[in-house]
Amino acid sequence: MKMFIDTANVDHIREANDLGVICGVTTNPSLIAKEGRDFVEVVKEITTIVDGPISAEVISLDHEGMVKEARELVKIHKNIVIKIPMTLEGLKAVKILSAEGIKTNVTLIFSAAQALMAARAGATYVSPFLGRVDDIGSVGMTLIEEIVDIFDIHGIETEIIAASIRNPLHVIDAARAGCHIATIPYNVLIQMAKHPLTDIGIERFLKDWETVPKK
Ligand code: E4P
Repeated sequence: MKMFIDTANVDHIREANDLGVICGVTTNPSLIAKEGRDFVEVVKEITTIVDGPISAEVISLDHEGMVKEARELVKIHKNIVIKIPMTLEGLKAVKILSAEGIKTNVTLIFSAAQALMAARAGATYVSPFLGRVDDIGSVGMTLIEEIVDIFDIHGIETEIIAASIRNPLHVIDAARAGCHIATIPYNVLIQMAKHPLTDIGIERFLKDWETVPKK
């Protein structure tokens, strides 16, 4: 399973990229708003850090508006993927954009039926939001498993991005379910690399090293 970072913070993106573990970035209007910077400027900067798919979301609700925004956004860089909300208008936009060779990531997916619709409309990626499903007391991972099964059975090439990740277990469960990609917040990425026994191990090695006779 590939790993993307889910943020618009360029310092975090740079740090994650230096770790060598991420190959893409997803942003959304809320993540952009947190940065307090111009949208296009931020996205442009991200393209200079990561050489992989970078999702930038449209905010129009009608398909004509979405397509218009998408055509502008793809001018920023060849790696831009257009994030489109999972609505009927969104599907129309995906159909048009996919015919133009523009990559799309259909976001706010909360059911397998929505994922299938998005894939058939021509989406490059679908983003089921597993954490938000957990938040309302359902099991987000079931949604991922269902989509993986359906896409496998029918040879659907659209890639599944496990989104709304809240903890390392979400990432591991998504990987075991056969999800193609997880888009991971910076703090979860850092948590994934840590283990208390690793820290204790290093401490013990260094302590023992002090007892090694030195010439
Ligand atoms: C997906 O691409 C979204 O940016 C993201 O995962 C949303 O997650 P949230 O539920 O933490 O806002």
